[in-house]
Amino acid sequence: MPEVSSGHDLAGKVAVVTGAAQGIGLAVAVALAAQGARVAMLDRDGDAVRAAAAELGDAALALAVDVGDETAVTRAAERAEAELGPLGVWVNNAGITRPGMLRAMSADDFDVVLRVHARGTFLGLREAARRMGSGGSIINVTSSAGLDGTIGQLNYAAAKGAIVAMTKSAARELGKAGVRVNAVSPAAATPMTETVRTDERFAAKYLDRIPLRRWGEPDEVAEAFVFLAGATSRYITGQVLCVDGGTYMAS
Ligand SMILES: NC(=O)c1ccc[n+]([C@@H]2O[C@H](COP(=O)([O-])OP(=O)(O)OC[C@H]3O[C@@H](n4cnc5c(N)ncnc54)[C@H](O)[C@@H]3O)[C@@H](O)[C@H]2O)c1
Repeated sequence: MPEVSSGHDLAGKVAVVTGAAQGIGLAVAVALAAQGARVAMLDRDGDAVRAAAAELGDAALALAVDVGDETAVTRAAERAEAELGPLGVWVNNAGITRPGMLRAMSADDFDVVLRVHARGTFLGLREAARRMGSGGSIINVTSSAGLDGTIGQLNYAAAKGAIVAMTKSAARELGKAGVRVNAVSPAAATPMTETVRTDERFAAKYLDRIPLRRWGEPDEVAEAFVFLAGATSRYITGQVLCVDGGTYMAS
C-alpha cells in the first residue's frame, strides 16, 4: 500500500525567516510557529521585529539584521543555532522596491535593490547550505516580475530573476546532501503593494492581471511556505510555486 503522509512534520524544527517584521515574512513566521517550529525572525527594522516576535512568545527569536550585511547574517545564523537549535528551514523573504522607468533609473536604485534581493538571498542561501543537513528546506521569494518582466521596475525584475536562477542552481548543488531549495512567487496585500492596490492610477490595472480578481492575504500565501518547508513536499526541489491568484502561468 502507498504510505499516507503524516503532515508537515515541522514540530520542533528551527526556521529562519528574513524580512519577518511585517507582510509575508511575518505571516510565514506565524504559520511556521503554528506548526510547532521555533523561528528566528530577522529584519532590518529591529523595533518592529522585536514587537512582532513578542507576540509569538518563546517560539520566536527577534534579530535586527540587514540581509545584505555578510557578517550580520553569519552572526544571526550562529545565534539562531545557539538559542534555538540546528537549522531546518531558511526563508529568504526580505525585500524592497525602488520603482522607476528604465530611462530615468539611477545606477544607485539598481544596486540597492540588487543588494537586498540578490546579495541578501545569496548570503542566506550560503549560510543555510553550510549549516543544514538532510531534510533541510530553503525557500526563496521571487515575483512575476522576475518570471515575466514588468514595466517600471527593471531593477526589481533583475533581482527576482537572479533569485530564480539561484534557486535552481542551489537545488542542483544541494540535492545530494538532502537539502531542497524552492521559491515562492506571491501576490499579497502587504505594505509593499499598498500603492498599486490603492492608487487609482494603478489599482484596476493590477487587479485585472489577477485571474482570481483579488489580492491574496499574507496568511494564505504563507500556507505555501509551510508546504515547501515541511515533509509533504519532500520530493520537490528547484521549483517556483506561484501563489498569486493565477497572475503568472508558465507556458
Ligand atoms: N506582496 C506582494 O504582492 C509580493 C509580490 C511578489 C514578490 N513579493 C516579495 O515578497 C517578499 C515580502 O514582501 P512583502 O510584500 O511582505 O513586503 P513588505 O515591504 O511588507 O515587507 C518586507 C520586509 O523586509 C524587510 N527588509 C527590507 N530590507 C531588508 C534588509 N536589507 N534586511 C532585512 N530586512 C529587510 C522590511 O523591513 C520589511 O519588514 C519580498 O521579497 C517581495 O519582493 C511580494
